[in-house]
Amino acid sequence: MSCFYISATTVFNIVSRSNKYCSDSCDEWSSPEYALDYLEVADKIPHRNEGDQVLLEYIPTDAKKILDLGTGDGRLIKMLRSKQEQEHERQHQQLSLPSSLKIIAVDISPAMLEKARNYFKDDNSVRIIEHDLSYLISDKLITEEKEEESEIQFDAIISGLAIHHLTHERKYSLYKEIYNLLKPGGVFCNLDHVASPTLRLHKQFLAKTTYKKEDKSNKLLDMQTQLKWLEEIGFVDVDCYWKWLELALLIGIKPVQ
Ligand SMILES: C[S@@+](CC[C@H](N)C(=O)[O-])C[C@H]1O[C@@H](n2cnc3c(N)ncnc32)[C@H](O)[C@@H]1O
Repeated sequence: MSCFYISATTVFNIVSRSNKYCSDSCDEWSSPEYALDYLEVADKIPHRNEGDQVLLEYIPTDAKKILDLGTGDGRLIKMLRSKQEQEHERQHQQLSLPSSLKIIAVDISPAMLEKARNYFKDDNSVRIIEHDLSYLISDKLITEEKEEESEIQFDAIISGLAIHHLTHERKYSLYKEIYNLLKPGGVFCNLDHVASPTLRLHKQFLAKTTYKKEDKSNKLLDMQTQLKWLEEIGFVDVDCYWKWLELALLIGIKPVQ
């Protein structure tokens, strides 16, 4: 098991001093080639679809507001929509998302944003926002949504293979932000790339995946530290709900009271 662990107090002090972070992932993901290279292999990552499916199961079916962090081309939202449509079809209902559903998707990569915007151009329930997750998301949402901070509350905050691109300090402060942005009872689902406990397992993962080489924008952190952080922040029912080597689905619920 990795022994890396940053004390919560240390992180909190850093967070309190500044609300700005700089992650070099922005540089890499700003390159269209980088984004398109990922999209080429996105569906070929072994077992990844299993993790996606478990994540979708935990999004409440009556969710009215969902936030997708590091949405890419909107992969998770497309899957959610397709699942909802299948459900509607099964129930012989109208083929559309619930009209009251609002999904906000953020990403930094212009190439990804363009793909997501094109895909969802006719869908008023999906809003695509350009934002560097190295910086506070709530400020951006207040500006973009023209809402008071107290009104910006989500039933579910989801993320697929994105948060591991942020520094460990920012991962922690982002988890705190996510907690504050959730409604009581809201769920945080993060299917992410985590650090292997040993070098041998890391090499095994690389050999089995389509990347084959190190992604220089990765800032991998072990799963246990992140689960502990979520608990410290106040999430309940925190656990790894699905895992295959370095892919792990971490979920936490904001308590109702
Ligand atoms: C591996 S892709 C995953 C995309 C999508 N969630 C999926 O599951 O296919 C990682 C995504 O994180 C985004 N990303 C990386 N660093 C970011 C940052 N600092 N702020 C916002 N998005 C970032 C990238 O642009 C990219 O779309």
